[in-house]
Amino acid sequence: MTAPIPPIHGFSALAFTRLTPDEQQRRAQEFFELMQQRRTVREFSDEPVPFALLELAIKTAATAPSGANQQPWSFAIVGNAEMKCAIREAAEKEEYENYHGRFPDSWLKELEQFGTDWHKPFLEIAPWLIVVFKQDYGLIVEPSGKEHKLKHYYANESVGIATGLLLAALHNAGLATLTHTPNPMGFLSKLLQRPKNEKPYLLIPVGYPAAEARVPNITKKQWVEVAQVFE
Ligand SMILES: Cc1cc2nc3c(=O)[nH]c(=O)nc-3n(C[C@H](O)[C@H](O)[C@H](O)COP(=O)(O)O)c2cc1C
Repeated sequence: MTAPIPPIHGFSALAFTRLTPDEQQRRAQEFFELMQQRRTVREFSDEPVPFALLELAIKTAATAPSGANQQPWSFAIVGNAEMKCAIREAAEKEEYENYHGRFPDSWLKELEQFGTDWHKPFLEIAPWLIVVFKQDYGLIVEPSGKEHKLKHYYANESVGIATGLLLAALHNAGLATLTHTPNPMGFLSKLLQRPKNEKPYLLIPVGYPAAEARVPNITKKQWVEVAQVFE
């Protein structure tokens, strides 16, 4: 009989703050109302935003759960004007193709309500762009060039959860965001010189909304449409 394999990291006591029922209700309600106010913003001000706010939001994102704790994400934070200009040019090239033949008519029809087209001025106007990358697999390269690949489990789900936390943290810090996907986004890997195991996942302009920013009148599904309760 072989001996059981001991856990690698060991365990420690959970730090858990038990709230009173009143406090739970109050915080749950407050967070709901805060998140209800989040909107996708497509018109940004060029007003600077302290980097420290982005750093904290990304640290928050990086607390996310992930398959086997593999944390298959990385975040590029771009404030450099030339890089933002290069990203805009490359994104607009792809979006021009998307809006002139690559998107099916049904998609274009769906997009009409948002008033979007291939022009993406916000990529230069917003003070920061966060590019979220998904690591499809882990990659360790030895000085000799020998590569070791590590299979990642549930990378897509994990990065989606981290991005949700990121958007919530940025909103909580009083910042506006746009979840942008100028696909195909391979240009982001090239411009930002990311390793081959990383794929661009989302491009998120961050800043303050322009004074005249408007948002489309859309609705969210009702409780009964999204929830099914089994008590
Ligand atoms: C995965 C994903 C991709 C998106 N891609 C774009 C995009 O490329 N351009 C854009 O203007 N909005 C994009 N959006 C924003 C959605 O249109 C927006 O979230 C939706 O209309 C709901 O509006 P709200 O965020 O204000 O609630 C994207 C959102 C998600 C979640």
